[in-house]
Amino acid sequence: MAEHRLHPNDLIAPLFVREGIDEPQPIASMPGQFQHTLGSLRVEVAELHACGIGAVMLFGVPQQKDSIGSQAWNPEGIVQLALADLRNDLGDEMVLMADLCMDEYTDHGHCGVIDGHGNVDNDATLEVYARIAVAQACAGADIVAPSGMMDGQVAAIREALDGSGFNQTAILAYAAKYATALYGPFRDAVDVTIASGGDRRTYQQDVSGTREALAEIRLDLAEGADMVMVKPALSFLDVITAARPLCDVPLAAYHVSGEYSMVCAAAERGWLDLDAVAHEHVLAVRRAGADLVLTYFARRLAEAMQ
Ligand code: PBG
Repeated sequence: MAEHRLHPNDLIAPLFVREGIDEPQPIASMPGQFQHTLGSLRVEVAELHACGIGAVMLFGVPQQKDSIGSQAWNPEGIVQLALADLRNDLGDEMVLMADLCMDEYTDHGHCGVIDGHGNVDNDATLEVYARIAVAQACAGADIVAPSGMMDGQVAAIREALDGSGFNQTAILAYAAKYATALYGPFRDAVDVTIASGGDRRTYQQDVSGTREALAEIRLDLAEGADMVMVKPALSFLDVITAARPLCDVPLAAYHVSGEYSMVCAAAERGWLDLDAVAHEHVLAVRRAGADLVLTYFARRLAEAMQ
């Protein structure tokens, strides 16, 4: 009677790589997840490949943060180095995706450039995103994934990539990304604190609605997105289902850090069966209409499928 089944190819593993460490650092709020060194990342990705995972999404944690996030587009920046290593190791065997944003790289923790009034300057940020996209493509990214929710980001990135000869580099747009409390553990994973108790509500979406999410998806498709994403996944299954008929391209959903950590925490107390709940949750995201699921459970689920 099973209508849907999970396959390792449906899963994308988000991974963190940190500059300036000698040993992988466990992330306390995300049991089983690490800030990797370049070396431990290579091992992890080779093992993910061996258990059938076809794609990874990389996040970088630089040693130095500044107001404009300049390490994000430095050719020697941590994600660029990681992309080059993985491309070397695995050739075309693994699809390499790079999260394209500034928050991991800025000292104020916002996803964009800040103007004189402390607000995120949308259009100044687009210029920076264009630079990051070209740096990531140059280093070997197959797919860049803008997650900053600036207006016009997909068009700006497409133009920059095409202008630099990277017309084969695809864009996975975090199109419907909500301002939710579920990103808490992730901000520990990338050492981000938003300056002066700020939040991302001026650029991410209000959790109360669906209409704006669908409008954002239509805009990103019109700007040339090759795939679109809804994020988070589990508390936005209705948005995934509503988005499905709008998209003739693959639809991804991001099962985020908070959705992962709460299952781990309950399992640690013996209150839930971790593997069973992880499987049910990710299956629910597929059932709702997502083709691809980014999940920190990717490896565990894929291992169980072997
Ligand atoms: C922003 C970004 C965030 C996540 C992915 N990309 C955090 C945010 O918007 O604050 C969250 C992922 C997760 O919680 O697992 N670069």
